[in-house]
Amino acid sequence: MVEWTDFERATIQNIFSKIDYDVVGPAALTRCLVVYPWTQRYFAKFGNLYNADAISANPNVKAHGKTVLCGLERAVKNLDNIKAEYTELSVLHSEKLQVDPDNFLLLADCLTVVIAAQLGEDFTADVHAAFQKFLAVVVSALRKQYY
Ligand code: HEM
Repeated sequence: MVEWTDFERATIQNIFSKIDYDVVGPAALTRCLVVYPWTQRYFAKFGNLYNADAISANPNVKAHGKTVLCGLERAVKNLDNIKAEYTELSVLHSEKLQVDPDNFLLLADCLTVVIAAQLGEDFTADVHAAFQKFLAVVVSALRKQYY
């Protein structure tokens, strides 16, 4: 089981209380689809993903970006039990969607970049470390079903 310090718990909760899901979710998913274009293959039904402008204007990308943030919020609310909380999501991504699990880290990195830009000087090295650990646990929980 993952051990969290008081600082890590407070930092993760604080980040999620500060950010706007409607901004951060779409921005992170857009960045992922633009910077790592092979991730587009999973979102064929989302319509026009032709270029960066089309991706950032795509309403399905916007909506799904928020969905991902709501998924992360479930992890924030269950820091001591993320693996169990994510069991169904892991099954969905592995068995139904067949997402290559390497892509989880790519989206996680895009989230880090977007959140760092939003928080500015509040995104200190210690805050970064706590957030990175949170994302590593999330990615590991999503990967669980693949082993
Ligand atoms: C931080 C990592 C991720 C989280 C927290 C996450 C979370 C979610 C959530 C909450 C859903 C909705 C599940 C439902 O409807 O019950 C979902 C669906 C989906 N995810 Fe992920 N996801 C992550 C990474 C990825 C990556 C990297 C890809 C592909 C590159 C991906 C592809 C999809 C697809 C294709 C769907 C279904 C979309 C739809 O049919 O509308 N996910 N994800």
